[in-house]
Amino acid sequence: MISITPNQLSPRDAYRLLNSTVVPRPIAWVSTIGADGSINLAPFSFFNAVSGNPPTVMFSISQRAGKPKDTLRNAQATGEFVVNLVDESLAAKMNQTSGDWAYGTNEFEIAQLETAPSLDVQPPRVARAPIALEARVSQIVPVLGTPNTLILGHVVRWHIRDDLLRPNGLIDATRLHPIARLGGDEYATLAAIFEMTRPTV
Ligand SMILES: Cc1cc2nc3c(=O)[nH]c(=O)nc-3n(C[C@H](O)[C@H](O)[C@H](O)COP(=O)(O)O)c2cc1C
Repeated sequence: MISITPNQLSPRDAYRLLNSTVVPRPIAWVSTIGADGSINLAPFSFFNAVSGNPPTVMFSISQRAGKPKDTLRNAQATGEFVVNLVDESLAAKMNQTSGDWAYGTNEFEIAQLETAPSLDVQPPRVARAPIALEARVSQIVPVLGTPNTLILGHVVRWHIRDDLLRPNGLIDATRLHPIARLGGDEYATLAAIFEMTRPTV
C-alpha cells in the first residue's frame, strides 16, 4: 500500500487525489437567479442527498480567485435553487456551463439550452433535464479551514420525465442514463445494476 498525508502534497495535488478517490460523484447542475434577475447555471459534483425527510440535498462551492462563485451569491441573495440532473445526452452542454463566465452571464444561452419554468421557486430549470429538483436554501455553512461553502436545501418539488418513475416509486436508473464525475476531466456512465436485500436483525 502507498501511504500519503495531505501535507506531503500541494493543495492542488491533494484536491486531485481526493477527487479521484471519492468516485463516482453525482452532478448537480444548479440553476439560480440573482438579486438583479440574472439567470445562472453551473455544475457541482460535491453533491449529494443528505436527508430523506424533509428531502434535503447539499452541494459544496469553492471560490474563484478568492471570490464567491455566482451560484453562491445567488443562493445567498434569493434562497432558492434548482438541481437539474445530467444524463449522457446533456454532458457536453453541462461542461460548457462550467466555464468561468462573468457574473450575469446566462449559461442557458451559452450552451443553447431551453429553460422551463419552475413552479415553486424563481430559478428556471433545464427543460431537457430528465429530473429537476426545486429547492429552498435551508442552511449555508462555511466549511471550516477551507474556501468552500456548503449549501443545503429542502426539495420542494420534483420534475420527473414521464418514463422514469416506476410504479414502485423509484426512479428507473437504466432509463435515466446519469453521468458521474471521476477525477481530473474523467466521467463515468452507469454500468451493471444489481440488487441486495439488507439483513433483517
Ligand atoms: C462536472 C463538474 C463538477 C464541478 N463541481 C464543482 C464543485 O463541486 N464545486 C465547485 O465549486 N465547482 C465545481 N465545478 C466548477 C464550477 O462548475 C465552475 O467553477 C463554475 O464556473 C461555477 O459557476 P458559477 O460562478 O456560475 O456559480 C465543477 C465543474 C464541473 C465541470
